[in-house]
Amino acid sequence: MAAVMNPGAATDALLVAKEVSRRFGGLKAVDGVSLTLERGSLHAVIGTNGAGKSTLINLLSGEIPPSEGRVLLMGQDATGWSQPRRARAGLGRSYQRNTIFVNFTVRENCRLAAQSRWQRAWDWWTPAQRCASSQAAAEEALRKAGLTAQAGRIAGALSHGQKRQLEIAMCLATAPKVLLLDEPLAGMGAEETERMLALLGELKSEHAILLVEHDMDAVFRVADRITVMVNGRVIASDTPAAVRSNREVQIAYLGESH
Ligand SMILES: Nc1ncnc2c1ncn2[C@@H]1O[C@H](COP(=O)(O)OP(=O)(O)O)[C@@H](O)[C@H]1O
Ligand SMILES: [Mg+2]
Repeated sequence: MAAVMNPGAATDALLVAKEVSRRFGGLKAVDGVSLTLERGSLHAVIGTNGAGKSTLINLLSGEIPPSEGRVLLMGQDATGWSQPRRARAGLGRSYQRNTIFVNFTVRENCRLAAQSRWQRAWDWWTPAQRCASSQAAAEEALRKAGLTAQAGRIAGALSHGQKRQLEIAMCLATAPKVLLLDEPLAGMGAEETERMLALLGELKSEHAILLVEHDMDAVFRVADRITVMVNGRVIASDTPAAVRSNREVQIAYLGESH
C-alpha cells in the first residue's frame, strides 16, 4: 500500500552525489566526491578549513553548478535543477552564516520560510489557502525545533543557540526530506549543543541529514557515517569507528589524540 502511494519508498537513498567536482579558476575546491544520503541516517562531513565542505553543500543544494558529476534527488537526475526547484523537491539547507530576519518574530521568520515553498505559478490565486498552509507548516516546524514557547519573540532577541534552532525550524518549514546543515553547532555553549544534538537525533528518523561540523566529539556521537575531506577529495567514508581508527585520517585530520 505504502509502495503504491510513494514510489520512492523502495529505496531510502534520497540524495546521491556521483563524482561531483567544482573548480574555481585553477583550484579544484571539490574533487570527485561521491556520497549517498539515506533516510534515517546522519552523514557527517568533516575536514579542515578550506577542505571544500561548504562548496559541496552548495553543489548538492543547487546554489552553484558542478564542473563535473551528477546529483540525484529522490532518484531523479537533479544536476541541472535550480536551488528553488531542488527545495520544492524536498531539499532543505541551513547556512554557515545567519539568515534570519532579526526584526521579525520567530513565527514570522518561519512563515516566510514556509511561504517560499508555495511560490508556484499555479496557486497564485489562492492566497488564503496558501496562508493557512504556511501557518500550519510554520507552527509544526517550531514545535519540532522546540521553539513554540519563543514563537512571539523578536528573532534578534534570541540567544545564539536559539537562532541556530530557528534556522533549523525555517528549514523544516519548507517540508524537506533531506537536510543539509552547515556547522549548526558553531558558537554554541554546552547546553545549546546538547539541545541541538537531541534535535538532530529526532529529525534523523524522518529525514536524510548531511551535517558539516567541526565539533568532533559531537560528530562522533551523532553520526552514522562520516566522510573525511582533504583538499576537496574524500580520503575516507565509513562508520565512525572505522574512521576513528583510519591511519590516513588520523594523520591528515584528527591528530594522534583522537
Ligand atoms: N566562490 C568561490 N570562489 C573562489 N574560491 C572559492 C569560492 N568558494 C570557495 N572557494 C575556495 O574553495 C575552497 C573550499 O572552500 P569551502 O568549501 O568554503 O571550504 P570549507 O567549507 O571546507 O571550509 C577554499 O580554498 C575556498 O577559498
Ligand atoms: Mg565551510
